[in-house]
Amino acid sequence: MKIKKAVIPAGPMKPVLVTGGAGYIGSHTAQELIKEGALVVVLDNLTTGHRDAVRAEHFYEGDIADTALVEHIIKEHQIQSVIHFAAKSQVSESLAKPELYFCENTVKSFMFFEAVMKAGVKHVVFSSTAAVYGIPKYIPIREETMLAPINPYGASKRMIEECLEWVGKVHGIRWVALRYFNAAGASLDGSLGEDHGPETHLIPLVLQTALGLREKLSVFGADYVTSDGTCIRDYVHVIDLANAHILALRALEHSMQSGIFNVGTGKGSSVLEIIEKSEALTGHKLSVAYEERREGDPPILVADSEAIKGVVCWEPRYSNLETILSSAWRWHSTHPNGYRQ
Ligand code: UFG
Repeated sequence: MKIKKAVIPAGPMKPVLVTGGAGYIGSHTAQELIKEGALVVVLDNLTTGHRDAVRAEHFYEGDIADTALVEHIIKEHQIQSVIHFAAKSQVSESLAKPELYFCENTVKSFMFFEAVMKAGVKHVVFSSTAAVYGIPKYIPIREETMLAPINPYGASKRMIEECLEWVGKVHGIRWVALRYFNAAGASLDGSLGEDHGPETHLIPLVLQTALGLREKLSVFGADYVTSDGTCIRDYVHVIDLANAHILALRALEHSMQSGIFNVGTGKGSSVLEIIEKSEALTGHKLSVAYEERREGDPPILVADSEAIKGVVCWEPRYSNLETILSSAWRWHSTHPNGYRQ
């Protein structure tokens, strides 16, 4: 990929619509946008998001496919840019109900983009995923790597990228798709964190086990061809991810061309490494059960993020395991039931 530095203007941002702003990454991004002085409007249907995670002054409980509502919000708040997170995001659920994922993620995003275009929005930042790569041949993974999703979740997100490619070309919308690796950690002030129902992600499960909320932690597969036999992932702090969205949006609002960027640290950590570091941090020894490999898990996912670093000067600041785990630990130990009281 040819890297051309974008101009990132400082100063106030234009009003932004954040879909899925009650979810994990969306709520942290909305909070960071507010800190930058942006007027943020959140649209979320609260099927998986949490009302208590919404920090924005303007909140609409509704669906991205409700095109009349989307057009109304854009006009009412003079929205110029959207960050689109709203989606179903559980790999295992997508394998059980592929039609749900293509409907909720892909079809509804197509409808959302149509309404957004009609209402005159010119910039879109879209929440994509490393799951579009499937099992990559080369590590670290570059954006040009062949795309071969191995689950409907990844496929549903790739279709949205393709839609943006065409919509952008034909209707002059400029957009960025960010392919995240493993989002992790919690806001540094302890006010926001990760709360999925059901929880399937490694770090929250490890910390909930350390808190005694779960009896044991399952390790899915110890026979991978990796240093210790367990899967390797590239964990990136949720605030670093939020900042990637903000930088991309600022650059788009200036004059940056559309593009797709990986967002990761380039450093992989194994499942056992996460467990060991968590045990050291929390002072609790976990009871671990070794189980079969989980369907749909690639052995190693580590990002090459040189493109986003070069183009919008993104740098991970909080994505070391110590900060990831300590911020997550603070969240889970003060919110053992997540956002539920
Ligand atoms: N793991 C366990 N035990 C658990 C939970 C997870 O051993 O109880 C392992 C998984 O097998 C995997 C690693 O921990 O090797 C990380 O699993 P997560 O569920 O935390 O995250 P994933 O890597 O499966 O998922 C992430 C994103 C998805 C994205 C996917 C792409 O959260 O959105 O990467 O493969 F689709």
